[in-house]
Amino acid sequence: MKENLLIYISIFLYLNKRTKYMSHNLLKGKKGIIFGALNDMSIAWKVAERAHEEGATFTLTNAPIAMRMGAINDLAEKTNSKVIPADATNVEELKNLFSESQEILGGKVDFVLHSIGMSPNVRKKKKYTGLNYEWYKQTLDVSAMSLHKVLQVASEMDAINEWGSVVALTYIAAQRIFPDYNDMADAKSLLESITRSFGYHYGTSKKVRVNTISQSPTVTTAGSGVTGFDKFIDFSENMSPLGNASSLDCANYCISMFSDLTKYVTMQNLFHDGGFSSTGVTNAVMDRFGE
Ligand SMILES: NC(=O)c1ccc[n+]([C@@H]2O[C@H](COP(=O)([O-])OP(=O)(O)OC[C@H]3O[C@@H](n4cnc5c(N)ncnc54)[C@H](O)[C@@H]3O)[C@@H](O)[C@H]2O)c1
Repeated sequence: MKENLLIYISIFLYLNKRTKYMSHNLLKGKKGIIFGALNDMSIAWKVAERAHEEGATFTLTNAPIAMRMGAINDLAEKTNSKVIPADATNVEELKNLFSESQEILGGKVDFVLHSIGMSPNVRKKKKYTGLNYEWYKQTLDVSAMSLHKVLQVASEMDAINEWGSVVALTYIAAQRIFPDYNDMADAKSLLESITRSFGYHYGTSKKVRVNTISQSPTVTTAGSGVTGFDKFIDFSENMSPLGNASSLDCANYCISMFSDLTKYVTMQNLFHDGGFSSTGVTNAVMDRFGE
């Protein structure tokens, strides 16, 4: 009985230590909008928790359909934030999101996280060589063009402060072929191109910076939709000198990109992948090859 209690306490202390970071107040006084927290596995969820710990205030948003799951309200309570539903492909809903957010937060925002991805072709197991073109358009609209819409709405409303920072999440399939990533690869290429192009225009007009973070494969609802994801995570782990980056570590990188410590970083695609993108092969993979 006593031993069991000790084990429970040790597990609790271990988990607490792993999930709590010391706050450095990196985002003290900053206001933001966080897209894409669906459940506690979502990368955006971790970003919200870390942004809260670092002193930021923000609104949370997701597609109205995702609200039905209800989990986002728990996050809102935990981070003392309001939830504003918005379909990121709908310009009117985005306008409402930016105006309500400014009202709630008391002024322009300093950071925006775009953590949105969805492909009907992936969901419905279409092959890249047999795509449904209506779904292909949806993939591009939801996963990439939505970033353009967010930036266009924000710049037309002048809703982001000077030196503000917008981060969108992407994947290395934008540069290299990963067959099962399907039409999401095309969406990520477009997303990274929008980042460069809008980053130029928003940088010159308002000193707002725009970057993508290219994250390791991570177990989340969107990630797990990709065929053979478990095997792929294992492969990627073995192909990365530091191993796969976790969603919490991705959140920490996002926080640094929202902070004033990275003020002159813009129009970049930043790899957060334990070294995967620079690796040709590893001994760990070679040892398994031919097993
Ligand atoms: N999980 C991975 O392996 C991985 C790796 C690299 C990059 N990413 C990227 O990270 C981002 C976040 O994904 P995640 O892995 O946390 O999964 P997730 O499923 O938790 O997040 C995806 C989010 O997109 C939202 N969304 C879908 N359609 C929308 C719409 N029309 N309007 C507004 N929101 C909408 C969903 O509701 C969900 O909250 C995505 O861009 C994804 O491509 C993920």
